[in-house]
Amino acid sequence: MFKNLFKNTPEGEIQEVNLDEAKMPQHVAIIMDGNGRWAQKRGLPRVAGHKRGMEVVKDITKASSDLGIKVLTLYAFSTENWKRSEKEVSFLMDLPVKFFNTFVPDLVENNVKVNVMGYTEYLPEKTQKAVHDAIEQTKDNTGMILNFALNYGARAEIVTGVKKIAQKVVDHELSIDEINEDTVSKSLMTESVAPYNNPDLLIRTSGEERISNFLLWQLAYSELVFTDKLWPEYQPADLVENIYEFQQRDRRFGGVKEGKNK
Ligand code: FPP
Repeated sequence: MFKNLFKNTPEGEIQEVNLDEAKMPQHVAIIMDGNGRWAQKRGLPRVAGHKRGMEVVKDITKASSDLGIKVLTLYAFSTENWKRSEKEVSFLMDLPVKFFNTFVPDLVENNVKVNVMGYTEYLPEKTQKAVHDAIEQTKDNTGMILNFALNYGARAEIVTGVKKIAQKVVDHELSIDEINEDTVSKSLMTESVAPYNNPDLLIRTSGEERISNFLLWQLAYSELVFTDKLWPEYQPADLVENIYEFQQRDRRFGGVKEGKNK
C-alpha cells in the first residue's frame, strides 16, 4: 500500500486514501481541458490558462511517476487545434520549448523518458527541436514514459496506419488474411509505448464528456473518468481521487466477473 496519499473529494474535502498497488492503471491518458475557461474566469487572456496548465503538467508528471504509472499520455495539441487564433497557436507551440527548457533535469532525476506521438513534422522548427532534444536527453531513462500527443488526431492516425498495412499488402509482405487486431494496433502511434499501447484509464478535466478524436482505437476497453476540475486547478490529489474511482470499477473486458461464469 502507498503511504500518506490524499485525495480531493467532489465536496472539496481532503481525505486520506489507500490505493491498491495491485490495481494501479499502467497507462493513464489525460485530455487536459479547461485552460481557457480557467483564465477567462479570472479576467486573464486564454494563454494564461495554458501557462498555468504547463505547471500542472509538471506536478502531475511527478505524481504519476511516484505512483508507479508506466505511461502517462497527455493530449497537448490536436490536429484540430490549428483552428485557434494565431496568437494562441503560437503560444501553444512555444510551450514545449518552455517546458523542456526548465523541466528536463527533473525528468532525468525522476528517471522519466519522453516520447511524442503525432504529426510532429508540421510543428515549427523550434518546437520540433525542443521535443527532439528532450527525447534524446531522456532516452536512457527506464522509468515512466511521459508521452505527449502533439498535433495528434485519432482518425488521421488510423488512416496512416491503414495506409501502412495496405502498402505491406501491395509489397507482398503481408496477406489480407493475416490482418488482425494486432496488426492494426502495431500500425498505430501508440506502438511507441508498447507493451502499454492501450490506456487503462482516460481522464478528461473540465466537465466535458467527449473523446474529441483521442485514441479512438486504444480506448476500446479503457475506464473513462470525467472530472469537473479545470486543468489549471487539477492537483495530484485529484489524480489520486480519479485513480481511486478507477479502482472501484469492475473491468470485465466484455466477459463476466471472475467466478460468475457458471
Ligand atoms: C484545452 O483547454 C487545452 C489545450 C488545447 C492545450 C493543452 C496544453 C497544456 C495543458 C499545456 C501543455 C504543456 C506542454 C508541456 C506541451 P482549452 O483551451 O480548450 O480550454 P477551454 O475549453 O476552457 O477553452
